[in-house]
Amino acid sequence: MLDSPITLEKKDKVVLDKILRTYKKERGALIPILQKAQEELGYLSPDTLAYIASQTNRTLAQVYSVATFYAQFRLEPIGKHLVRVCHGTACHVGGAEDIQACVCEHLEVGDEGGTTKDLQFTVEKVVCVGACSLAPVMIVDGVAHGRLTPDKARNVIRKYQQGKKG
Ligand code: FES
Repeated sequence: MLDSPITLEKKDKVVLDKILRTYKKERGALIPILQKAQEELGYLSPDTLAYIASQTNRTLAQVYSVATFYAQFRLEPIGKHLVRVCHGTACHVGGAEDIQACVCEHLEVGDEGGTTKDLQFTVEKVVCVGACSLAPVMIVDGVAHGRLTPDKARNVIRKYQQGKKG
């Protein structure tokens, strides 16, 4: 996976060192370390995984196997804006598939979501974000947009494209 030396940016190393200091003494803390690293850095790069392995006395294979086992971990960069389309039961019944299809078509990513070529948007499917009374819902950069129709969802995305938040 990684044959070359670890080449982390200084700011990323500072972030990781802080996380590692917090969790280093806890046994079995690899998952929280990976969660926090992803939260802070956006995704888990090969260098990030290698650095975490080197600092926690684990092999890269051990860290990589955990990072690839859980769907919550991203190994690729994400877009500037994260769009999470809810597919929980209430949203599914309310038309989540149509919302997903409209958003993905508008942003020209695959039907299942993904990241736009310009790295401005990443679309993900999620399961119940806890706002069922607003179904169908999508979350953009942590802000819930509810009672959506495909047209409303497209308009929300357009506002983010124009630099206006919903
Ligand atoms: S099912 Fe979508 S918010 Fe609960």
